[in-house]
Amino acid sequence: MENLKELFEQQIQDLYSAEDQLVEALPKMVMNASDEKLKRAFENHLDETKQHKMRLKEICDQLEINPNGETCKAMKGLIKEAENFLNEVKDDDVKQAGMIAEAQRVEHYEISGYGTAARYAKELGYDDIAKKLQSTLHEEYNADDVLTNLAENRLNKKAS
Ligand SMILES: [Fe+2]
Ligand SMILES: [Fe+2]
Repeated sequence: MENLKELFEQQIQDLYSAEDQLVEALPKMVMNASDEKLKRAFENHLDETKQHKMRLKEICDQLEINPNGETCKAMKGLIKEAENFLNEVKDDDVKQAGMIAEAQRVEHYEISGYGTAARYAKELGYDDIAKKLQSTLHEEYNADDVLTNLAENRLNKKAS
């Protein structure tokens, strides 16, 4: 890597790999969510995640790069961790709480990735691409808020 453009392209490929892995992994979260609201939140975000992947594909086309150039090892690790948790957990309440925690880790990772990528795009003068990345970033923030609310409602319910 020799310049910001190459660093940017590498980060876009990394994000593409992350979203691609999430499209595969999220159905498992939907399946394991016994809480109706949590299930719906995962379903909604699966739809959004497919959009995120498509947006990145469009961006790669604009940049004339192959979207499949990288494997996001961090996302691989986060997903592995979530799978291990699902295999080990016994109590259903704990399972629902733990899935929210694992999902928020993923959202925070994406928020940091898209925040950086959107800034680079602006710096490089790719205004159109920056807008696409901002839309995704906005949806990642929103998904994180939804999960925070679900976690807090759970706590409130437990307390009452
Ligand atoms: Fe995403
Ligand atoms: Fe996300």
